[in-house]
Amino acid sequence: MIEFSNVSKSFQGDWLALKNASFKINKGEFAFLIGKSGAGKSTIMKLIYLDIFPEDGYINIAGYDSRTIKRKDIPFLRRKIGVIFQDFKLLPDRNVYDNVAFALKVTGESYRNIRKKTLDALASVKMSHKRNSYPYQLSGGEQQKVAIARAIVREPFILLADEPTGNVDPENTAGIMNLLFEINTLGTAVLMATHDHSLIKKDINQVIGIRDGKIVKPENIFSKLDIEETESAL
Ligand SMILES: Nc1ncnc2c1ncn2[C@@H]1O[C@H](COP(=O)(O)OP(=O)(O)O)[C@@H](O)[C@H]1O
Ligand SMILES: [Mg+2]
Repeated sequence: MIEFSNVSKSFQGDWLALKNASFKINKGEFAFLIGKSGAGKSTIMKLIYLDIFPEDGYINIAGYDSRTIKRKDIPFLRRKIGVIFQDFKLLPDRNVYDNVAFALKVTGESYRNIRKKTLDALASVKMSHKRNSYPYQLSGGEQQKVAIARAIVREPFILLADEPTGNVDPENTAGIMNLLFEINTLGTAVLMATHDHSLIKKDINQVIGIRDGKIVKPENIFSKLDIEETESAL
């Protein structure tokens, strides 16, 4: 469903943020993208969202090829990709309900459909009771739940989660992870980028490792020493 084929991307001069990356994510899969800060995780997310394009190689996203996709088709493809970020990115001057409903308004749905889908999405992340609150009145974990509702309300085929627990306390981290697993069980593929190897569960489909812009085996990302250092720092 998503295929990276020898994808390279550079940002400045000859410094490559992504080097000859190839991997696949199948329909309905839960995949982890694991690597340290600066490894290239967000670059991969932006490439899938077609925020940026490869310099070399190609990406196939649900049948669209990064080399041939027409500019006018990009917004339609993006409607079927859900995204959540470390810093939530909710609209500060809109309440919870409107933050989620806004994602549907641009698709031209009827008022009745917007209302039903928005309330359903808020119920599925257990935030219905906060629908009239504003983002600043919510904890980090609650804001991320609203961001998840906004991401799933258009029924995407994949949810891109870029370090979604980075600004959430440990207790709410488990809640966010459980929500992502639940959404996946209902049929949406999930690609979750993280530098935190402790979040990887055994029953997920795939772990993609990235180190200095190269796809590597996940066990090669953190040397034993790195893990010991992380643990003693906690
Ligand atoms: N817009 C940009 N301009 C210049 N360099 C960038 C840009 N985005 C990312 N990079 C560089 O590309 C590399 C990979 O970044 P990124 O994908 O954000 O890593 P990660 O998400 O794994 O922390 C880093 O060295 C980063 O500094
Ligand atoms: Mg990143």
